[in-house]
Amino acid sequence: MLILGIETSCDETSASVVENGREIVSSIILSQDTLHRSFGGVVPEIACRAHLESIVGIINNALVDAKITLAEIDAIAVVNTPGLIGALLIGVTAAKTLCMALDIPLIAVDHLHAHIYANNLEYDNIPYPAISLVVSGGHTILFLSESETKHIPLGWTIDDAAGEAFDKVSKILGLGYPGGPIIDKLARRGNQCAVAFPRAYLEKDSLDFSFSGLKTAVLYHYRRYDSKNTGAKIPSDQEIADIAASFQEAVVDVLVEKTVLASKIHRVRGILTGGGVAANSRLRQRLKEKSKELSIPVYCPSIRLCTDNAAMVAGLAYKKYLEGDISGLDVEAIP
Ligand code: KG4
Ligand code: ZN
Repeated sequence: MLILGIETSCDETSASVVENGREIVSSIILSQDTLHRSFGGVVPEIACRAHLESIVGIINNALVDAKITLAEIDAIAVVNTPGLIGALLIGVTAAKTLCMALDIPLIAVDHLHAHIYANNLEYDNIPYPAISLVVSGGHTILFLSESETKHIPLGWTIDDAAGEAFDKVSKILGLGYPGGPIIDKLARRGNQCAVAFPRAYLEKDSLDFSFSGLKTAVLYHYRRYDSKNTGAKIPSDQEIADIAASFQEAVVDVLVEKTVLASKIHRVRGILTGGGVAANSRLRQRLKEKSKELSIPVYCPSIRLCTDNAAMVAGLAYKKYLEGDISGLDVEAIP
């Protein structure tokens, strides 16, 4: 079964053809990074317009790459929640239009569940129940995953998402957008113990997250160097790397600790990760270490499948299709 997936929830326009929920026949991802870079974050209005301009071409490219025509597609999958409302609407409208014209099923997919499914595109026999950590620019959430399609939320961020914190700290340090990959690279030559940034664990056994205090701590620390405020020196490249490494370690400590806590509380058989921040090398390394300690497998999708892509959407849709979870053409985009 060939499913065409469409993903436009944030700042990537993506289309992909996936066979039987597993084989990625084609995957096209157009990133809007350059459009948002000067603003240090995603500008919703710019994102919507860019999706609108490129969606038809991206779908066409996915079909050309797969060497098939629309007539050979068996169903269309689209992310309808969560995301930027105007951005979601472009993908959802394109998907509905194609389904109506081709008279094939529409399968609406949750963006966060699709991030978790990225693991199933690459690994066989993932054991359930599992704890799934989804960490992206818009979300930080722990799920108890009972299967590829059943995910129960256990805890989420009460303020900033982890990726948002990476992006904002990168902006504070003057490093650029998106901040995650830049900080990840820079932190490798920084000292993670240089600055004792706070870790917000919240109340005992809480599976919720909070990153806004950490972001503010980085801001205040950086301001000590700001010559306009204090006359202090400008931080050296090494000091910037040290701040980046110390910040990253604070984020990773909290993510790892809460994921491990959730896995112990729910006595799961595996840990899954997904979302852009799951590409972080330090997070992956620390979770792999925990895998040995807990004696359960930890799965991280390959880097290209961590960030937004339509292959994970088309993949998950196949499982939903098998379960009869098909959407009507009245399905709504929900931010
Ligand atoms: O999942 P994603 O592509 O989009 C959303 O659904 O939000 O995640 C994007 C986020 C951005 O905040 C970006 O800075 C972060 O993922 N990111 C990373 C890394 N690569 C991307 N954060 C930390 N380390 C990375 N290597
Ligand atoms: Zn995402």
